[in-house]
Amino acid sequence: MTPSSRDQGREFLKDAIRLELDFSQTDQARGVEPPPLEKPFAPEARRIDLPPPDRWKDVPLIDLATAVGRRHSRRRFTDRPLTLDELSFLLWATQGVRKRSGSGTILRTVPSAGNRHALETYLAVVNVLDVSPGVYRYLPLEHQLLFEFSEERLPEKLTEATLGQSFVGAAAAVFCWAAVPYRMEWRYGLASYKVLALDAGHVCQNLYLACEAVAAGTCAVGAYHQQKIDRLLRLDGKEEFTIYLAPVGKV
Ligand SMILES: Cc1cc2nc3c(=O)[nH]c(=O)nc-3n(C[C@H](O)[C@H](O)[C@H](O)COP(=O)(O)O)c2cc1C
Repeated sequence: MTPSSRDQGREFLKDAIRLELDFSQTDQARGVEPPPLEKPFAPEARRIDLPPPDRWKDVPLIDLATAVGRRHSRRRFTDRPLTLDELSFLLWATQGVRKRSGSGTILRTVPSAGNRHALETYLAVVNVLDVSPGVYRYLPLEHQLLFEFSEERLPEKLTEATLGQSFVGAAAAVFCWAAVPYRMEWRYGLASYKVLALDAGHVCQNLYLACEAVAAGTCAVGAYHQQKIDRLLRLDGKEEFTIYLAPVGKV
């Protein structure tokens, strides 16, 4: 890295993290309708009901200090499948709804700048009991999995899109978080890009901790080929693009 490219990089970072909070210039201030809280889907689309929190049977309680103390990046998984209860718990812990207020405000299990929640969770399912392999999208408001498409050689393609990281293709399921920038831009304009990235960090940390409760493991993955992963998930790379990944498997 040359000194000038380093300076350029630091300026780039400062530009990205500087909060230019000029609310008068946002679409919200102009009275534009807010975008939907989750991407719409066709009512007839194939969906799987996920067991709600009060019906989980194989999600043991562990104390928070144990989960925090044990958390680490795990890159070796067994062949054992995840159960639907376990998957439901992990999705709820990362993006689930924890409260709906009378006024219609919906709050999740993770924080988000302005409660905008500008992330969608795509789930590459490889080895989950009662769920056929393929790519799904989590619907937090319905607590359902929406079937998106099936894909041949999905594990190999996941490894390829993550620059040869073979533990990604060896996972039972891969959480793929995609940014929907307009959901944040509507309120924050140019300040969106900072808070969007911060939001993704909270989500992945909850996944790490939740995995500890169900004898599973995960590893944050920020090294991937942007176009390859977006193409694999069928995202346009503009209105929606991959921001973070996390393979999950039993350990
Ligand atoms: C933003 C971010 C991106 C990461 N990307 C990768 C990755 O692409 N591949 C990988 O093996 N680990 C990745 N990691 C995991 C780190 O290597 C790991 O957190 C670090 O070595 C500390 O280990 P620990 O998580 O076990 O404490 C990433 C972690 C973060 C927070």
